[in-house]
Amino acid sequence: MSAHPSTWQRACSAIALTVLVVGCSGRQAALDPAGDQAATIEILWTLMLWMCGFMYLLVLIFLGHALWRARHVLSSEPVPHGAQRPAERPLRMALAGWFGLIVGGLIVLSLGSFFIDRSLANARLDNAIKIKITAAQWWWKVEYLGETPAQRVATANELRLPVGRPALLELQAEDVIHSFWIPNLGGKQDLIPGRINSLLLTPRREGEYRGQCAEFCGLQHAKMALDATVVGERDFAAWRQQQLLPAHAPSTPEQLRGHEIFMSGPCASCHQIVGTPAAGQNGPNLTHLASRRTIAAGARPYSFEALRDWLRDPHTIKPGNHMPQVQLSNSDLHALTSYLDSLK
Ligand code: CUA
Repeated sequence: MSAHPSTWQRACSAIALTVLVVGCSGRQAALDPAGDQAATIEILWTLMLWMCGFMYLLVLIFLGHALWRARHVLSSEPVPHGAQRPAERPLRMALAGWFGLIVGGLIVLSLGSFFIDRSLANARLDNAIKIKITAAQWWWKVEYLGETPAQRVATANELRLPVGRPALLELQAEDVIHSFWIPNLGGKQDLIPGRINSLLLTPRREGEYRGQCAEFCGLQHAKMALDATVVGERDFAAWRQQQLLPAHAPSTPEQLRGHEIFMSGPCASCHQIVGTPAAGQNGPNLTHLASRRTIAAGARPYSFEALRDWLRDPHTIKPGNHMPQVQLSNSDLHALTSYLDSLK
C-alpha cells in the first residue's frame, strides 16, 4: 500500500490537469461560468465531485485493504470452527461507519440539489428580456418578443444577450425533442413538441459562447450549434435596432440578379427576408444573414465562399438537412451568393 499514494497523487494530478486544460475553460465550458445560473450549477457540480471523489477513494482503500487481507491474514493459521476472527470486529465497525457515511453523503447531495434547484427557480425576473426559441432539425429559430409585433426581431442560430439582464427563454420544438444548452451560461432544458418550456439565463460576463443541442435529434444533431454573444446593454440596443431594419436592398446588377433568382426560385417559399416578398417560415430568417458569424447552425464560419458552397450543395456540408439542392449555373450561384452576402 505504501507505494499507492504517490501513484494516486500522480494520476489525480494528471486527470485534474487534463480536465482543467480541456474542459474547464473556453466558450463551451460548464466549468467556466459566465452567468448566474451556470455559477450556481457549478457549486453543485463541485460538491458532487468532491463528495463522490472522496467516496470513490474510500472504496479503493477498502478494496486494497481487502486484497491485502486476503493474502496475508486469511492464508495464515486456520481459525477453530465457530470462533470469530479477531479482525472481524473492526471490519464490522468500519462497515457501519461506511453505511453512515453513504447515508450522510446522500443526504448532503440531496439537500444540495434541492437548494440549488430552489435558488435557480427563485432567480429574479426584473426587466427580463423575452426570447422565443424554436428548435427544428437542425437549426434554431430565435425571436425577440417586443412590446408590439413591430418590435419583434427574428434571427436564426445566434443569440445575443445584454450582460447583467435576465433573459427569459420560451423553448419549443417543431419536430422532435431537442435540448438547449449554452454551458457557460446555464443548464440544459429540453425542447419538446407540443410543450412550452422556459429557461432563465442571467449573463454576467461579456464574451462569445457556443451553445449546442444536447439531445440526439437525428442525423445532424452534432451540427446544431447556437452562436451566443453577451454584450453591453448599449451594444445590445444597437444590435436590436439594426436587426429591426428591413433587409439591405440589392445595389449592384449582380445583387439584383441574385435577388431575382431568390424571389422567383424555391428559396422564397422557405425563407423570410423582411422588406421583400420572401416570407417563408420553414427555414431560417435571412434578413441579416451576412451579419452572422456562422452558417447552417455553426456548420461553417461565415464567409462568401462558405455561403456559396452551401448554396451549391447543402448536403456536402450537412448531409440529410432539409434544404433541397437547387440546380444553379455558376454565374447564377455567384449572383445569388452576392445578394445574400449583402444582407448585413
Ligand atoms: Cu437538436 Cu440534437
